[in-house]
Amino acid sequence: MSDHTQPGWLVTEPYRDVDHGVIKSGKEAQVNLVERIGDDGRSCLIARKRYLPRHVTHKGQLEALGVQRASTFRHDVQYREGRQFRKSRDRRAIERMSTYGKRLLQDRWTGTEHEVMLRLWQQGVSVPYPIAFADDVFDLEYVGSWEMAAPQLSAARLSSDELADAFDQLIVGLRGITAAGIAHGDLSAYNLLWWESTLWFIDFPQSIDIAANLQGLDFLHRDVLNICAWFEHRGLDVDAEERFAELLSFL
Ligand SMILES: Nc1ncnc2c1ncn2[C@@H]1O[C@H](COP(=O)(O)OP(=O)(O)OP(=O)(O)O)[C@@H](O)[C@H]1O
Ligand SMILES: [Mg+2]
Repeated sequence: MSDHTQPGWLVTEPYRDVDHGVIKSGKEAQVNLVERIGDDGRSCLIARKRYLPRHVTHKGQLEALGVQRASTFRHDVQYREGRQFRKSRDRRAIERMSTYGKRLLQDRWTGTEHEVMLRLWQQGVSVPYPIAFADDVFDLEYVGSWEMAAPQLSAARLSSDELADAFDQLIVGLRGITAAGIAHGDLSAYNLLWWESTLWFIDFPQSIDIAANLQGLDFLHRDVLNICAWFEHRGLDVDAEERFAELLSFL
């Protein structure tokens, strides 16, 4: 597992990838465990996330785009996103939502998660290293062992000391994410992993650039309230509003 601290190696060619099956399959994505084996025989484990087509209509992103009703979303997002493509052929494909257009959009979204996680990783936030993305596939550092993938925080069995430690790590991570100008947008005990006493932030496709979105702070606020409520429910004394106010000073 020591290769996990050497992300440079992960992109060194040549290598071959061996698929070891599904870690988790859900409505938005399927994540597989992949072993990457280098020419020199060294290997490391990778999480390979495949986005399912519905991903493009994530509700968080709808709201971030200022779309109030889901029924208006499809047209609106196609239009807005379409306008950002330089070639008129691409613009038309997106606005018509042809297969090619959907593919262009999907690329963008996969790219967002990769881009955001790279920025956060570079700033020292506890996110898996984002290795590469192409089309609807995103490779990232795997958190876990051969025996088991890291559990989501919601399923991890934490002692009260560990719970307090996880909360401290949550706050440190949130400060880093906020300082990078980003709101996660879907922060919950399902999008945090717990492994060997470390808390990991995952699942960023719907993340929001706080400065560029009027509702950016609302997303941050909602994230903080949601996740604080989870910790409170488990017996930790948490003042969510105070935590939110404190985070604003990191912007
Ligand atoms: N780097 C990783 N290492 C280990 N497990 C991971 C990793 N990334 C994701 N997983 C597992 O896969 C699950 C789904 O990943 P993620 O949260 O990024 O996708 P999602 O969009 O929420 O997918 P869905 O909505 O289909 O569950 C995670 O909750 C976690 O259990
Ligand atoms: Mg998730």
